Amino acid sequence: MSKTILVTGSTDGIGKGTALKFAQEGHTVYVHGRNQEKVNHVIAEIKKATNNENIKGFVADFSDLNAVKKLSEQIKNEILSLDILINNAGVFKTAVDKTKDNLDIRIAVNYLAAYILTETILPVLEKGKATRVINLSSAAQSTVKKGILTGDFSVNASESYAQSKLALTMWSFHFAKQHPNIITIAVNPGSLLNTKMAKEAYGEHWSSADKGIDILCDLAISKEHLNKSGLYFDNDKGDPKGRFANAHPDAYNSLLIEELLANTQEVINSELIRS
Ligand SMILES: NC(=O)c1ccc[n+]([C@@H]2O[C@H](COP(=O)([O-])OP(=O)(O)OC[C@H]3O[C@@H](n4cnc5c(N)ncnc54)[C@H](OP(=O)(O)O)[C@@H]3O)[C@@H](O)[C@H]2O)c1
Repeated sequence: MSKTILVTGSTDGIGKGTALKFAQEGHTVYVHGRNQEKVNHVIAEIKKATNNENIKGFVADFSDLNAVKKLSEQIKNEILSLDILINNAGVFKTAVDKTKDNLDIRIAVNYLAAYILTETILPVLEKGKATRVINLSSAAQSTVKKGILTGDFSVNASESYAQSKLALTMWSFHFAKQHPNIITIAVNPGSLLNTKMAKEAYGEHWSSADKGIDILCDLAISKEHLNKSGLYFDNDKGDPKGRFANAHPDAYNSLLIEELLANTQEVINSELIRS
């Protein structure tokens, strides 16, 4: 049955490949990116490749939390129901380490944006059929420090990336518990997949982008995962396809999750009030 799907960060990499694959299967796909021209180009490209006219797009720079909030309100106004949300947009190596609001750029794009988007469009997700939310984690996960979350301290790109991915995973587990009617899965799509991110960070890759694309589509659609909400899928643990496995121990610590969520809400409130 045809589904309505939003893939964030689908102007490049595995997000773009995933959007294309969903379009080939005949679903209604919403592409998202930070650049209007690139979004328009990807929509045209996918339509041409698939003959699927139900491809639309949204633009929002996820390093700007107010832009994320505006996008979320736009989605609530324009989309009646969403069956699948893939929180894929992400950054690792960047030209600058801070956002214009002085937040850590990886924390903002990889974690806070996904948090705001998902929590705000909850009514749209709740109207979906057997809704699934897939959150892009990573093998890199490191204990989240409050000063990094608030932007008061700085660490190197690898460390802030790992903290952003553990934060996303911890919230993913919490969100799954809070919303048992939505299947929520955190996933490491595979390390060093052949995308812009891996090229910029390491100049090499270990696996094709298809490895990540295939697992995102599988987790989002396959009946096999209907009872896997609140879990973490590690695509490094097997070839061609990994398995459900343990995330970082902090993701199973309810006190740390509570603390993370309180700090997250504090940061978001102050950011959204400030501008
Ligand atoms: N590649 C890997 O080996 C690997 C491993 C583990 C996890 N992951 C995760 O998988 C996800 C996709 O990664 P990828 O390798 O496909 O990366 P990618 O090729 O660099 O694509 C990232 C996507 O996110 C978008 N994006 C970046 N910054 C943004 C911003 N400020 N606002 C809105 N959109 C933004 C990009 O837009 P532009 O087209 O404008 O750049 C692009 O569409 C990420 O969350 C990443 O952390 C990747």
